[in-house]
Amino acid sequence: MKILVLHGPNLNLLGTREPDVYGSVTLDEINAKLIELGKSLGAEVKCRQSNHEGALIDALQDARTWADGVVFNPGGFTHTSVALRDAIAAIKIPVIEVHLSNVYAREEFRSKSLISAVCKGKISGLGWKSYMLALRALVE
Ligand code: DQA
Repeated sequence: MKILVLHGPNLNLLGTREPDVYGSVTLDEINAKLIELGKSLGAEVKCRQSNHEGALIDALQDARTWADGVVFNPGGFTHTSVALRDAIAAIKIPVIEVHLSNVYAREEFRSKSLISAVCKGKISGLGWKSYMLALRALVE
């Protein structure tokens, strides 16, 4: 089984970005944990990050050709991007939406996700463990 873990804008800054909200673990550390968990579950995990909407769409479309599922944190695009929603709907492989923070406990605009309706499920608010649970759910 092959899984794409896709991180959206500003997640490359994890570790130093608003650590009170997102924690102090870096993106590289999260990716290493995901690859390790994947190995223990018998899955190959590839991790990608982009700050650009089009690059995220390209990664989702590309995943259609090789991945069995996607763990996706679209960052701020969660709340704005019709194009990402359409890409997820188009690729027909399961996508799990992930957020480090509890988006429902923050500003009102974060309560709205344009992508949730086309995702298999959603995990929010458990810090870096949100990603681990999503990976486990996809593989199982
Ligand atoms: C986020 C939540 C978003 O609202 C925010 O724009 C992010 C990170 C999270 O992981 O908690 O960039 O997706």
